[in-house]
Amino acid sequence: MRVLGIETSCDETGVAVYDSQRGLLGQQLYSQADMHALYGGVVPELASRDHVKRVLPLVRACLDEAGTTLADLDGIAYTAGPGLVGALLVGAGVACALAAGLGIAAVPVNHMEGHLLAPLLAPDPPAFPFVALLVSGGHSQIIRVAGVGDYDIIGETIDDAAGEAFDKTATLLGLPYPGGPHVEQLAGGGRPGRFRFPRPMTDRPGLDLSFSGLKTFAANTIRDNPDDPQTRADIAHAFCEAVVETLAIKCRRALRQTGYRDLIAAGGVAANTGLRERLRAVAAEAGGQVRFPAPGLCTDNGAMIAFAGALRLAGGRRDGAIQVRPRWPLGELAVPGPQGSA
Ligand code: KG4
Ligand code: ZN
Repeated sequence: MRVLGIETSCDETGVAVYDSQRGLLGQQLYSQADMHALYGGVVPELASRDHVKRVLPLVRACLDEAGTTLADLDGIAYTAGPGLVGALLVGAGVACALAAGLGIAAVPVNHMEGHLLAPLLAPDPPAFPFVALLVSGGHSQIIRVAGVGDYDIIGETIDDAAGEAFDKTATLLGLPYPGGPHVEQLAGGGRPGRFRFPRPMTDRPGLDLSFSGLKTFAANTIRDNPDDPQTRADIAHAFCEAVVETLAIKCRRALRQTGYRDLIAAGGVAANTGLRERLRAVAAEAGGQVRFPAPGLCTDNGAMIAFAGALRLAGGRRDGAIQVRPRWPLGELAVPGPQGSA
């Protein structure tokens, strides 16, 4: 089965071809980050317009790279949500029009399921069940994953997402958008111990998360200290430590609570080197392993959509009508099967 995947939920236009026998055959990505950086965050209308410009040329380039044609496809998967409604409609419209023209299935994919399943694209994929930490710009969730579509959200942020906290703190530190990689880089030159940020919600039971306080703590620390490069690096270091340790504490608890041994981490923040190191230790303590998507597949991309779409299609999913769901909780997905309705 060969599936074209189209991702346009936010500020990346991603296109990929996945073949269930041969794996990922091609992938193309265009990031609008430079355009949005001027405004300090994603401007939805600009994002939609740019997706319109990019998506078809990327589809052509991706099919060429994959050495395939539209006629060889069995389905076209697209991100149907969650995301920015205008941006989602671009990918959905193109996918459904192409699929209708070709007489093949259009498969709506949940973006967060795409992130969650991305580690399974590895040559040696992790086995179910596992605990998944999904940390992106819009979500921070801890999920008990028993199988494809069998997701139980056991913890989530009550306010900002982890990536959002990185982005807001980056702005406070005068760094460009998206802030995560810049904060991580700045933190590399920071000295441990000069500042200590709180570890939110770790002093009470449960798996929920909260990151808005860390952003406020960063704002106050910046305000109360001299404005010099070393201080900024020290603050970035303390902020990263707090996010990483908080996520590690919650993942350790999630493994204990579920009795599972293995962990996966996905979404943009899972690209963070410090987080990866710490989660390796947490999984090892539980006698298991932590797995991540390949580095380029942590942030938004078409490959994870093509892959999740192929799994859904193999499970019997068929859809013609264009559908987008700006809000689409993972817990509402169904296990794919002949009657599966995603
Ligand atoms: O998954 P993603 O590409 O898009 C969403 O679905 O949100 O995640 C983007 C988020 C941004 O907030 C970005 O700052 C963060 O992931 N991010 C990082 C790193 N790389 C990306 N955060 C911390 N450390 C990183 N290395
Ligand atoms: Zn994402």
